[in-house]
Amino acid sequence: MTTSPTRQSIATLLAEARERTIALIAPLGDELLNRVYSELLSPLAWDLGHIANFEELWLVQTVGGRAPLHGDLGRFYDAIENPRKERGELPILRDEELRAYMAQVRERTLDVLEGVDVGPDNPDRLLREGFVYEMLIAHELQHQETMLQLLQMLDVPYRPAEADPEAFLPAPVGEGEENVRVEAGTYEIGAPGRGFAYDNERPRHAIDLAAFEIDRTPVTNAAYSAYMAATGAEPPMYWIRDGDGWARTAMGVTVPVDPARPVVHVSWDEAEAYARWAGRRLPTEFEWEAARPRLGGVGGAWEWTSSDFLAYPGFEAFPYDEYSKVFFGHTYKVLRGASWATHTHVARPSFRNWDLPQRRQIFAGIRLAKEAA
Ligand code: AVJ
Ligand code: FE
Repeated sequence: MTTSPTRQSIATLLAEARERTIALIAPLGDELLNRVYSELLSPLAWDLGHIANFEELWLVQTVGGRAPLHGDLGRFYDAIENPRKERGELPILRDEELRAYMAQVRERTLDVLEGVDVGPDNPDRLLREGFVYEMLIAHELQHQETMLQLLQMLDVPYRPAEADPEAFLPAPVGEGEENVRVEAGTYEIGAPGRGFAYDNERPRHAIDLAAFEIDRTPVTNAAYSAYMAATGAEPPMYWIRDGDGWARTAMGVTVPVDPARPVVHVSWDEAEAYARWAGRRLPTEFEWEAARPRLGGVGGAWEWTSSDFLAYPGFEAFPYDEYSKVFFGHTYKVLRGASWATHTHVARPSFRNWDLPQRRQIFAGIRLAKEAA
């Protein structure tokens, strides 16, 4: 969006994001919202309370100068202070209290919004062009993806309103050996100065790239199965043996693995090993961004890159250190693109996702690159 958001467009996006959150959990009872499925993921009730608490912190307390509804409850929703594996034990809001909190915060948010200047000339960078509102909308949409990661682990069938199981998988890409050749040159990387983006996408800067080739389509389940058969490599998360082949059991249902879809739920370590076996390599995140306009299958699964999650030259943390800055370094690997679970409002060519190289619970797949011949 190049046009500046208005209070009305912000209210609409806030409402749409919340509708999607509610739709996501509508098929589940309170017991399933509170259940801990994995050390790697929060119980859904934590995500819900965290979404509302983050909204209260920024849009009610910071923007509106109001006191929090539940005193210092917010410390239990701080993602840095409370590691995922401990979140099931926290005295967080649950059930009716949780729903009431979400609604009360939203009411206050809309009340505060009425008196706020979100125009392009507001000297307050937090409000200018609705930055903090865009951040909160993106935050809720991103947590929906985290919640969908957890929903993979349900042991009863997940039955949302539009019960289309196809909607929970990356779309088929077919077998494409086709390469895209990207010429050597200087490429602009990162988000432009205007419009919402996270701090880690800025500043936009020039990167010199040598010529390279990158696959037009991501690695498919067919290709990954062939690799497993040839090397004895472990199957991706959620795959189970099905006679001679493979099935996938997730969201409480088991279906045969579709050979034409992109492989998903592999770790960076696995993606790297696959690329090496194939005589190829993962692209750097800069190569990925430079090639992005010519890539197919983008939006099915996140794609691991060879890049560590580092600050761009001239990086400035905004509006808080804990979104990006505390994660910079050589611990996390960058993923680019988006997955089937990513709302299109969040997906940007410059968006940088990151996770630990051994993690497989995210919707991550593989795209191969190599030096140009
Ligand atoms: C960008 C997906 C790595 O889940 O840690 C959510 C997004 N940041 N709340 C994460 C995020 C704060 C972030 N990732
Ligand atoms: Fe968060």
